[in-house]
Parts: sequence; structure tokens; C-alpha cells
Amino acid sequence: MNVAITGANGFVGRNLIALLLADTSPSDIRAIVRDRVRAAAELPSAGLDVRTADVTDPASLRGAFDGIDAVVHTVAIPTERGDTFQRVNVEGTQAVVREAERAGVTKLVHMGALRGAPESRYPYLRSKGLGGGTARFQPLHVADLALVLRAALRGPLTGTYELGGPEPVTYRQLVEETMRGYGIRRPTMPLPVPLMKPAAFLFERTMADPPVTVGQLDLLAVDNTPHPNAIDQVFGIRPRPFLGGGLSYLGLRS
Ligand SMILES: NC(=O)c1ccc[n+]([C@@H]2O[C@H](COP(=O)([O-])OP(=O)(O)OC[C@H]3O[C@@H](n4cnc5c(N)ncnc54)[C@H](OP(=O)(O)O)[C@@H]3O)[C@@H](O)[C@H]2O)c1
Repeated sequence: MNVAITGANGFVGRNLIALLLADTSPSDIRAIVRDRVRAAAELPSAGLDVRTADVTDPASLRGAFDGIDAVVHTVAIPTERGDTFQRVNVEGTQAVVREAERAGVTKLVHMGALRGAPESRYPYLRSKGLGGGTARFQPLHVADLALVLRAALRGPLTGTYELGGPEPVTYRQLVEETMRGYGIRRPTMPLPVPLMKPAAFLFERTMADPPVTVGQLDLLAVDNTPHPNAIDQVFGIRPRPFLGGGLSYLGLRS
């Protein structure tokens, strides 16, 4: 099976490629990237079929999926820094779907976001919705996600599936576990979201790469847990735990 992965040099894309390479010839994996030179440092130099395309430029996508059986579309932006959700997440995805149809691709796997819906009041979730609780998250290890994507590529599944790790965690646990993963210790102080919003508003207007945006703070109002969690029920994968060292690989990165 020939597979194309958009956003191939991204976090999900490169972890999926690492898994596929275990039993797939590199030449059967088409890595679609925006910038070939930058992507070269992030992709394995294993002889992948690397192509360039920008999803906001449909002409650049032309032919990207010719000869391909299945596409995994991972391109998305989580904040509107250089481009808009509408152009990349919505219209970019539509352009990918159109080109995949034109090329006769029989399967497309799209990475969405929990609670993504066209009617969402939050711009990012609206943009991820092809289809105010407390802030709870259910992080899924990227290696387990890669297993899901591989199963989706190879199995007869169709539909939309919500995925998460084994247990819900609070934002505080998320931060503490991330610090533990990096092997750093910092005091943390809870701050109500409404108090952070003016600062985030200022960051966005004065910094090229703000540490937090108003849109990201908004997402803390949304329940980020899967209902139901398809990871074990549909895919038969027992997700690895997040708490207690699930991010220990972070400390291994330079
Ligand atoms: N990571 C998570 O925790 C998480 C959780 C839930 C859902 N998701 C979803 O999973 C998907 C993948 O996430 P990720 O963490 O792998 O994201 P990522 O690391 O930010 O990768 C995004 C990829 O999209 C590419 N891209 C951005 N704009 C593009 C454009 N206009 N044309 C072509 N390529 C473009 C980026 O290329 P450049 O390197 O050139 O910028 C990059 O390769 C996304 O749909 C995301 O919403 C991720």
C-alpha cells in the first residue's frame, strides 16, 4: 500500500513514518512537506518519496497523491500566527480532500481535535470540526497514536473516532508531568483564566511568538476527554500511562 502523509515532518507525521518504516519500504511512503530543506532535518534519510506542497495553494497539491492508496492528513495550525485557521485547517483540508478524490485515493485519515465542530464558539475548534466544562485532558502517547493511524490505514474502518490516553488529568497534572519529563523543577501558581486574558491579549499584539494566546486560554474551558475512548474499544490498544513518567522521553531530547 502506498501512503501519503501531509505534514510529514510534524510531530504526528514523523512518529507515524517511524512506525511505518518498520514494515514498509521507504519508497512506498510519500512525505508531503512544505519546506523540503527544513523537513530534511526532521525526517529520516531513508529514501522516502518526499514532495512539497502548501495546502493553502491548491495548485501546489496537484499530483501530490497520484499513485497513492491512502492519505493521512495531519496538517493544521493550532494558533493564527502566520496564517488563519480558515485558510489552513478548513480550506487546506478541503483542498487535500479534493485532490485525493481527483487522484482516486480510496482512504483518507484526518486528524481532528476533540470537541472540534463547525458550530463551536472557539475559532480553532470550529476550524477542526468536520463533523464550559472544567479543564480536563486525556493525553495519548504519540507512539500509541501512530499505532491507531496505522490500523486506520490498513483496516476496514470508516467514521469518526475520539481518542485519548488511559486516564483524565487536570491542567496542573499536565504541567507537572511535562516538567518532570524535562527534568526541571519550577514552582507553579494557579491563576484564574480571566486574569490571564489581558496579558495574553497583549502578548499577541506585541510578540511574534507569544507564550500563550487568548484562543489557547479559551480552550481551557472545553472538556478535552474522549467520549467514548476508541483507543481500546475500537483499536484494541492499551494506551501507555501519562502520569508517572509517560513523558520521560522529553528529557532525552537535546
Ligand atoms: N500534537 C497534539 O497534541 C495533537 C492533539 C490533538 C490533535 N492534533 C492534531 O494532529 C495533527 C498533527 O499535529 P502535530 O502535533 O503533528 O502538528 P505539528 O507538529 O505542528 O505539524 C503540523 C504540520 O503541518 C505542516 N503545515 C502547517 N501549515 C501548512 C501548510 N500551509 N501547508 C502544508 N503543510 C503545513 C507543518 O509544516 P511546517 O513544519 O513547514 O510548519 C507541519 O509539518 C493536527 O491536525 C493537530 O490538530 C494534535
